[in-house]
Amino acid sequence: MSFVIAIDGPAASGKGTISRRLARENGFHHLDTGLTYRAVAKALLDQNLPLDDVSIAEKTAYELDLSDLDPEVLAVHEIGNAASKVAVMSSVRKILVKAQQDFSLKLPGAVLDGRDIGTVVCPNADVKIFVTADADVRAKRRYDEAVSKGRDLNYDHVLADIKARDARDSERKDSPMRQADDALLLDTSKMDIETAFQAAKAMVDAAKNA
Ligand code: C5P
Repeated sequence: MSFVIAIDGPAASGKGTISRRLARENGFHHLDTGLTYRAVAKALLDQNLPLDDVSIAEKTAYELDLSDLDPEVLAVHEIGNAASKVAVMSSVRKILVKAQQDFSLKLPGAVLDGRDIGTVVCPNADVKIFVTADADVRAKRRYDEAVSKGRDLNYDHVLADIKARDARDSERKDSPMRQADDALLLDTSKMDIETAFQAAKAMVDAAKNA
């Protein structure tokens, strides 16, 4: 049986970096499930198709190839916003969740990160961590990251987008973002990424040795 690590949390909480490093450290496969929603959104945007047409979005989700998700291309802030609109459609979620569940079976283990991994995608995961941080801290991280790449963003807009996305993700009817009852909480507001990773690693090591 594969060992499954479920990481959930809002945008810019640190969950992506933590998940990638946990996978590398343990020799596990890694799937950033946000990329699956982003890839559907990007395909729609590229073809000038609406983001809220269920049958078009379903077809796009079916055609998605999980081995062909380019994080560099999909990382753009605007694609994240579009993804959270696509992600409110239940039938699209169903298709993507099935693909994510298949991925979680990969041996010797898998790390999946997203919003609903511990609650919906992998409710029986061996360890679940909910990674979060205050919205202003997360907005500052996203802003600094964009500036370091030479992009000219407005901090207040980034903060407003982060708050809007949090609201859309946690208030939607299907699979809202929430900490699973049996998930461990990791608040990274006052941590640098190394400290946050070490804290997550300690949680995983404890579960592996249990
Ligand atoms: O994590 P990331 O910012 O890439 O996710 C983009 C969007 O995809 C999220 O705002 C959320 O709406 C959606 N998502 C989701 N369930 C997941 C992962 C992402 O609904 N498991």
